[in-house]
Amino acid sequence: MSSDATPPVLKLHGVSAGYGRIRALHGIDLEVRRGQIVTLLGANGAGKTTALKTISALVRASAGSVLFEGRDITGLRASEIARLGLVHVPEGRHILRGLSVRENLELGAFTVRDPAVRQERMREVFGLFPVLDHRQHQDGSLLSGGEQQMLAIGRALMQGPKMLLLDEPSMGLAPKLVLDTMRIVKRLNQAGTTILLVEQNARLALRLADYGYVLESGEIRMQGPAAALRADRSIVQAYLGE
Ligand SMILES: Nc1ncnc2c1ncn2[C@@H]1O[C@H](COP(=O)(O)OP(=O)(O)OP(=O)(O)O)[C@@H](O)[C@H]1O
Ligand SMILES: [Mg+2]
Repeated sequence: MSSDATPPVLKLHGVSAGYGRIRALHGIDLEVRRGQIVTLLGANGAGKTTALKTISALVRASAGSVLFEGRDITGLRASEIARLGLVHVPEGRHILRGLSVRENLELGAFTVRDPAVRQERMREVFGLFPVLDHRQHQDGSLLSGGEQQMLAIGRALMQGPKMLLLDEPSMGLAPKLVLDTMRIVKRLNQAGTTILLVEQNARLALRLADYGYVLESGEIRMQGPAAALRADRSIVQAYLGE
């Protein structure tokens, strides 16, 4: 595990963002160190998705800066950020109807020019998710919820990410699949991918993560090592609605 002395791989400084006149984030600071799983928690509407979208430039920051590997990426386009290895797996999966599983994966690799690299990554994704291999010629939108989540993660892996932004990967899944999804997140992390995980299930996310932030109405209300947040009953009750 990285020590506090290592520079953060992702750093948000005073980031604000919103939609037209609606301000959803109010100057948030957040850091993720290499090799960590950091979780961003909070109730519905707290601004979790907006935070991830602002990092990956799907939403523009109105103030503040986002640094990835020490480089200011605040003004870059979403495709440029993905190419740097910071890849967003959006809320709701967005599997394209009418495209096969394989085509959905190929779409994920549109930034990868070398066909040999694309092939190798597809082999890796199929190794991680054998069900995608078996169903590679089926329409991606016909997969079950859990399989679609694997496809959404697989599509991100096709880009060879150094870091993943995961927005509620367990949303809408049956309890067993929720646990499977968390195991996958852990495996990806153990294989070297740094992760920023948004989750509604705070208890589960804090079991997995090294560090956590609690967002409330677009502001960071609390942060700390996951074990400390987990141990504090009042936090779970007051901020996480459990
Ligand atoms: N496209 C949009 N247009 C206008 N307002 C939006 C839009 N998306 C989000 N908002 C508002 O911004 C605020 C933060 O929303 P956001 O989706 O980031 O929350 P969240 O923490 O991800 O919530 P959830 O747990 O429901 O996914 C909310 O008040 C929401 O209504
Ligand atoms: Mg959300």
